[in-house]
Amino acid sequence: MEIIIQPDAAEAAAVAARIIADQVRRQPHSVLGLATGATVVPVYEELVRMHRQEGLDFSHCVVYNLDEYLGLDPHHPSSYHSFMRTNLLEAIDLPDGAFHIPDGLTDSPECACSQYEQSIADAGGIDLQILGIGRDGHIGFNEPSSSLASRTRVKTLTRQTIEDNSRFFAPGESVPQHVITMGIGTILESRRCLLLAWGDSKAQALAAAVEGPVTASVPASALQLHPRVQVLADERAAFKLAQSDYYRWVWEHKPAWQRV
Ligand code: F6R
Repeated sequence: MEIIIQPDAAEAAAVAARIIADQVRRQPHSVLGLATGATVVPVYEELVRMHRQEGLDFSHCVVYNLDEYLGLDPHHPSSYHSFMRTNLLEAIDLPDGAFHIPDGLTDSPECACSQYEQSIADAGGIDLQILGIGRDGHIGFNEPSSSLASRTRVKTLTRQTIEDNSRFFAPGESVPQHVITMGIGTILESRRCLLLAWGDSKAQALAAAVEGPVTASVPASALQLHPRVQVLADERAAFKLAQSDYYRWVWEHKPAWQRV
């Protein structure tokens, strides 16, 4: 794992966007695994800027999103489909048909989940998976106790996650309790992962994920088993990391050929 600590969320998001842009430039037909939520908003803003001002080209990419609420219409303003349209897709040149997200309106979730897995496999697997982290250590919506070998399936959100996500819904509107999410096993099959965390509220989960034991109680800790993970954190999310001085030292002494 490479842990990159930046002074604030804006700078960390800019580094994350550079890593994604670099992947897309080196491999124009990249299969990207993308996330939703507050964490990725500044990253997508920077990607949109790079597309407009630097010609960053997504026209050969394919995207698979991590998750979607079960029972929510894709056109609902709080669906993850809408989030992706508003925050990224409407502003870049990803072709129609290259964007994939679990079908929240399916009447056959099991079938939809295995088709999603098959579709990822048919696309050649995910080259770079972007991940946020929940306050409870979830990645995707693999809540604590999720099997580390899990595949795309329906999960029940914890009360804490429902409360956290209520900020994306209209006042008084209830947050769906169920989602379809890629599994931890699905995520671990990606060729590279980029885990993003900003703000004090993520500090506990990040420290447990990076420096604690690998455990289903902290689903993000499964990333310790992956050979190619970069973690980007701002100072506030990093403040509980015991080895933060070493992570900073590594970043400062990175050989030129490894720099992003
Ligand atoms: C979203 C997802 C979640 C979020 C996590 C953090 O697609 O899979 O794991 O990344 O809940 O959410 P924010 O960024 O809103 O704090």
